[in-house]
Amino acid sequence: MTAPEHSNSVGPDALAVLPADFRWGSATAAYQVEGAAREDGRGPSIWDTFSHTPGRTFNGDTGDVAADHYHRYPQDVRLMAEFGLNAYRFSISWPRIFPQGRGTVNQAGLDHYDRVVDTLLEQGIEPMVTLFHWDLPQALEDEGGWFNRDTAHHFADYAQVVLERLADRVPLWLTHNEPWTVIGQGYSRGLHAPGYRDYHKAGTAIHHMLLGHGEAVQRFRALAPDSAQVGITLSMAMVRPWSDAPADVAAARLLDGEQNRVYLDPLLRGAYPEDLDQLFPTLFDPSVVRAADLDVIGAGIDFLGVNYYLNHIVKADPTVPVLGARLIDPPGPMMSAGIAAVPAGLHDCLTRVHREYRELPLYVTEVGASVHDYVDPDGRVKDQTRIDYLRTCVESIARAVDEGVDVRGLYVWSLLDNLEWDLGYAIRFGLFYVDYRTQQRVPKDSAYWYRRVIEDHTQRA
Ligand code: NOJ
Repeated sequence: MTAPEHSNSVGPDALAVLPADFRWGSATAAYQVEGAAREDGRGPSIWDTFSHTPGRTFNGDTGDVAADHYHRYPQDVRLMAEFGLNAYRFSISWPRIFPQGRGTVNQAGLDHYDRVVDTLLEQGIEPMVTLFHWDLPQALEDEGGWFNRDTAHHFADYAQVVLERLADRVPLWLTHNEPWTVIGQGYSRGLHAPGYRDYHKAGTAIHHMLLGHGEAVQRFRALAPDSAQVGITLSMAMVRPWSDAPADVAAARLLDGEQNRVYLDPLLRGAYPEDLDQLFPTLFDPSVVRAADLDVIGAGIDFLGVNYYLNHIVKADPTVPVLGARLIDPPGPMMSAGIAAVPAGLHDCLTRVHREYRELPLYVTEVGASVHDYVDPDGRVKDQTRIDYLRTCVESIARAVDEGVDVRGLYVWSLLDNLEWDLGYAIRFGLFYVDYRTQQRVPKDSAYWYRRVIEDHTQRA
């Protein structure tokens, strides 16, 4: 396949600063791409329940079939190789491994991911595995889900089973993907599964997710080879006040706490931020956060995964319950999901970790743009908006690297168009367009652009 002529690479200076072994990857998540929801012994997850509940997702869309990646992964891996990608981040579906969340292991589920890993390695593509990308087994939700401390222990048991099977061949591991989104959308705002709207209780779920992370890292240290590394992916955004007014400044501080600090602080400093005691009171309740928990959570990761989409501008608004603040859309273009496009903020998030916490390797585990894509009569998907967005992200990473931040890879969200959770299939993030009637994959202009960037970098490295 030849590149459309107009696509343009990244400036040579930016590419020259990136390390020679930089990971040029893409990312997906099991429930969003796999389909095969009832095959090979998979049990139901909270997302099956949620998406099959009328009114919860756009158009009633579900992940039952999705992009059929469960069956089509060999072809999808070939596409990655053809387009020069050297890394792939994907998630394992917990209910494929433990259909009931715990107890009996489903070997067919493990066998599937074993084949996926081998197929990637055969094509020279480095796997990065996410253990939890939101599809909690429904059976565990029935026992309280992340409100229940036992879920943390079950998560560690699940991690152990997967590590025992795959850690010899997978060098990069992530425990959770974006706990903020799970908590913010699923426990506080009710937009994602499991659909709760209770900020105050959400603190308990935050803690159990992080405890599960810490316990999984302990299993990792006991089992994985020294060459393998483990981290967690956080959804980061720079949060800035609308004005210098004290109320706006305080509101921005609170929202920064809700999205960033409540995760970064325990993971990298071993404590929850004290100014969040009103928002998440259970994080300061010793019956929830027990004596040694923070040592387990803060015991140390090898790297941090950063997902970045946009920044927030915050204005105090006492009429908004709980947070007392609302978000103002930043100036500039909007993406199709009504998400503002602020790619340049990625640099500030990367340098913030380095400056305010500590120096540790970072991987940009997601950046991406949702665009109203369609296939032209000439067969092309002209997604220049996505190219512009991604180019700015690559340049932001290069600036951070130039300033001394250790950024080792970029995983574009997403390889394929897929189920954008509550927003359904109407929102497209892929480098490859998916025709959901035929499951045909069509490389978008951005896929050709990405290939050219990778080639240009390889030549310079
Ligand atoms: C973050 C999530 O990890 C992913 O599942 C989601 O589809 C993208 N961002 C886009 O919203």
